[in-house]
Amino acid sequence: MQVLHTIAELRDALALHRQRGFVPTMGNLHDGHLALVKQARELVGPAGAVVASIFVNRLQFAPHEDFDTYPRTLARDCELLDAAGCDIVFAPSEAELYPEPQGYKVVPPGVLADILEGHFRPGFFTGVCTVVHKLFNIVQPTLAVFGKKDYQQLMVIRRMVAQMALPIAIHGGETRRSAEGLALSSRNGYLSEAEKAEALRLSRTLKALIARWQAGERDLPAMEADAMQALRDAGWAPDYITLRRRVDLGPAVAGEPLVALGAARLGSTRLIDNLED
Ligand code: PAF
Repeated sequence: MQVLHTIAELRDALALHRQRGFVPTMGNLHDGHLALVKQARELVGPAGAVVASIFVNRLQFAPHEDFDTYPRTLARDCELLDAAGCDIVFAPSEAELYPEPQGYKVVPPGVLADILEGHFRPGFFTGVCTVVHKLFNIVQPTLAVFGKKDYQQLMVIRRMVAQMALPIAIHGGETRRSAEGLALSSRNGYLSEAEKAEALRLSRTLKALIARWQAGERDLPAMEADAMQALRDAGWAPDYITLRRRVDLGPAVAGEPLVALGAARLGSTRLIDNLED
């Protein structure tokens, strides 16, 4: 496996490979990321190249968020990626990817990007789309794999690729969970042991919301308010707990495929999760 830090080196290394599977990450990898790499390997085939990027993207962090403290664990990440079958790690410096302030940005439409995560993290999806579009231009993958754990992000990227007519097949990777059911996340590392046990409440809350809907309840605002209150009662600070249509994340409609999504702060750690019905 090669570990490359410049765009020029990466382009040279990729010149021989027409089929390229790409997994963009911010590092501090866990089994969820490695499953995406393995999925990319299967999709691209043995002759194709699997590229993973590691770049903590300042553009998608608000000033009060954890950009400075986000764990940078490149050596360990590279060992894990090598074992998972990755061919090339692209780990650019900030100066390499943003040699001047990134004035040109990819701004996704508000109808999808200003709700839920985008409402609570203004500018987040502009930061994500800008770096992902730039990484796509650099890697020029034939396919890319994103985790369904970041459900809204996956949707935003799919729409960007469709509207920009990028020749890249976007695949979703299933969320990996601990044996107890906690969705794997780089930010789980911020949790104490007691918080890790408590963190299971988020997915249970989403499951309970879906169960009420499936039992025939339809007063969604009340159901969502109950779910948020249950989290507050357990010491959480929820941003949202909601049931949406999978197709566009609009309000849930009976008979359509749905997804329950939630984001909530446990102590100083903000966790997100989702469950399809
Ligand atoms: O999901 C992530 O880790 C990031 O948002 C991504 C897609 C690597 C862009 O920085």
